Amino acid sequence: MSNGKKRLLTGLQPSGQLHIGNYFGALKPFIDRHSEFESMLMVADYHALTSLKNPAELKKNTLDVVLDYLGAGLDPKEAVIFRQSEVSQHTELAWIFECLVTVPFLQQAHSYKDKVAKGMEANAGLFNYPMLMAADILLYDTDLVPVGKDQAQHIEYAREAASKFNNAFGETFKDPKGIFLEEVATVPGTDGQKMSKSYGNTIPLFGTKDEISKAVMRIVTDSSGERPANVYSIHRLLKSEAELAPLYEEKKGKYKDLKEALIEDLESFIAPMRERRERYASDRPAVDAILKEGNEKARSQAEAKMKVVREKIGLTI
Ligand code: ADP
Ligand code: TRP
Repeated sequence: MSNGKKRLLTGLQPSGQLHIGNYFGALKPFIDRHSEFESMLMVADYHALTSLKNPAELKKNTLDVVLDYLGAGLDPKEAVIFRQSEVSQHTELAWIFECLVTVPFLQQAHSYKDKVAKGMEANAGLFNYPMLMAADILLYDTDLVPVGKDQAQHIEYAREAASKFNNAFGETFKDPKGIFLEEVATVPGTDGQKMSKSYGNTIPLFGTKDEISKAVMRIVTDSSGERPANVYSIHRLLKSEAELAPLYEEKKGKYKDLKEALIEDLESFIAPMRERRERYASDRPAVDAILKEGNEKARSQAEAKMKVVREKIGLTI
C-alpha cells in the first residue's frame, strides 16, 4: 500500500452462528490489530457454499456475520468489510491457481480429509477450497492472516500457490504469513472438545443471557479436581490468572458458584457488544452502505491486481 502500512486480511464463513471460539481464535486477533494495518475483513460466502445449500439460511447468516463483525468492535472506517461473492476476481484467480497445482497436492489437505471423514459431501468446491482461499489472500498483497490453528495448512497452500505462479510467470504475489495466538489456539466447548459449530458444544457470542447461562451450566466438569478445567479455561479468556486466583480459591470445589461467576463475567463482556450489534441491526441502510463501500474498494483493488496477472499469463492480445 502507498502509505507503507502492511495488509491484514481474514475471513469467516457465514455457515452458522458465531461462538466464543470464533471470536477469541479469529475475530478478536483481527479487531485488536485492525487500526494498525490496511485491514480487510471478508465474508467468505462462496466458501460457505461448499457446505450450505439453503438460500434463505445463507442470506441470513451473511447479514448476521456482518452484524457480528460490527458488534464485536470492528470500525468500518479502519477496515474494508466485503463479501467475497461481490468480487468475481476471487473465483477468476482461483481458477488460475487450480491450473498450476496438482490433484495429489490438493489431496493432502487435512481440512478436506477431515470434513469428508465427518460425512461432508466431497464436492469439487470443497476439494478446491484452498485455491479459492489462496486467491482471497493473494489478490490483495496480504502480509498477515489472523486465523485459528486449524487454518495453518491453508496458509501454506496460499504460499505455495504464490510461489508456483511467481516461478512460472515472474514475481507477482507477496508471501503471506499466518498469525496464530497460542493462548487461544483452541477454545474448549461445553463438552471439553474444541468448540465448533458442528459439535453442538458452543457458547454463542451474541446469545441472550439466558442462552449463555444454559450453555455455561452444561459445561462438563471433572469431579476429581477442585478447579473445573473447562470452566477455568473459558474464564481465562476474560480475566488474568491473578484476577481469578482468589475466586477459585474461595469457591474451591463449588462448581455451580464458579459457573455463575463465569456467566456474570461473560455477560459484562458481551453486553456492550450485543448493544452495539443491536444498534447496527436496527439500521439496515447503514449496514448496506458499509458493505457497498467495502465491496467497491475490494473490487477496484482486486481488478488492478488481476490486470497484472492477466497480462503476465497471456490472457491479453
Ligand atoms: P467452526 O469449527 O465453529 O465451524 P470455523 O471452521 O468456521 O469454526 O472457523 C472460523 C474461524 O474461527 C477459524 O479461523 C478458526 O480457526 C477459528 N476457530 C474455530 N473454532 C475455534 C476454537 N474452538 N478455538 C479457537 N479458534 C477457533
Ligand atoms: N477457511 C477459513 C475458515 O474456515 C475462512 C476463509 C476463507 C479465510 N478465505 C479466507 C480465512 C482468507 C482467512 C483468509 O475459517
